[in-house]
Amino acid sequence: MSSTLVGRDLLSIADLNAAEIDGIVDLARAAKGGTSLGCPLQGLSLALIFQRPSNRTRVSFEVAIHRLGGHPIALFNPEVQLGERESPGDISRILDRYVDGIVARLVSHRDLVATAAAVRRPVNNSLTATEHPTQVLADLMTVKEVLGHLEGARVTYIGDGNNVCTSWIYGAALCGVDLRVVSPPGYEPPVSVLQRGAQLRRHGTPFTLTQDPVQVLADTDIVYTDVWASMGQETEQQRRRTDFARLQVNDALLALAPASARVMHCLPAHRGEEITDSVIDGPRSSVFDEAENRLWVQMALLAELYGRRQERVA
Ligand code: CP
Ligand code: NVA
Repeated sequence: MSSTLVGRDLLSIADLNAAEIDGIVDLARAAKGGTSLGCPLQGLSLALIFQRPSNRTRVSFEVAIHRLGGHPIALFNPEVQLGERESPGDISRILDRYVDGIVARLVSHRDLVATAAAVRRPVNNSLTATEHPTQVLADLMTVKEVLGHLEGARVTYIGDGNNVCTSWIYGAALCGVDLRVVSPPGYEPPVSVLQRGAQLRRHGTPFTLTQDPVQVLADTDIVYTDVWASMGQETEQQRRRTDFARLQVNDALLALAPASARVMHCLPAHRGEEITDSVIDGPRSSVFDEAENRLWVQMALLAELYGRRQERVA
């Protein structure tokens, strides 16, 4: 049976349904366990556009495309100069004539939507200021790896109501994850995101938004955090250090969670700000497995988008 994802865009994690997310996560776990996904990208080229810096996303997508038989072409903003040398629309219309798909890290989600509308090839969101769907697919894979299930998993996101948090709100809603978001006043996820999350949420799946970590940490399975100042918010860094200080994921905060609780962070980490060395490097950290899982989940996603051909490794 061919994948329901063939040829589709992935601009938001909410472009997927629960069965599709489960399918990607399970295929990624199979690939990590040694199942070959074949060469569905044989003879295909994919352009990766980065308007913002990247380490994990760029390298994991390039390796994933290469392992699936395809040819990645990474383009960085000093070369393409989105909106300066050329409009995002013109850049993507030209790329559309050369390549078979586009993976785009753009500042503006609106530019990403316009890009997807202007081209015929599948477009993948590899982070905008609004969402980070491939990150949260890898995060969901990691939660399943740690706990063995997604439905009913208790995940506490501590920090800014930002792009990663938004994808978590949608992903948790679709997968039946009991998500708790702890943000300081003024840094909560946008109301429109909370409303969309409520629409997506399965009947009976809890969701909590609070300023107080104590109660939600008491029975959490996962403690998750992200930087206090995202890319593009560098001028706010000093103010955010003050506003978020009491939510640092350190040993004292982790002591509020059960001993079995694991720690996750999408990275890059600002060590000593949102997370301490003792926690990120400690025995309860799943952070580096989570980073590795970007590779496996993107291989699975691309295999589904470009037509999966699985072969079991002998
Ligand atoms: N987590 C993540 O997207 O990392 P990069 O910004 O390094 O790609
Ligand atoms: N919220 C962070 C995520 C980085 C992967 C940012 O947008 O910079």
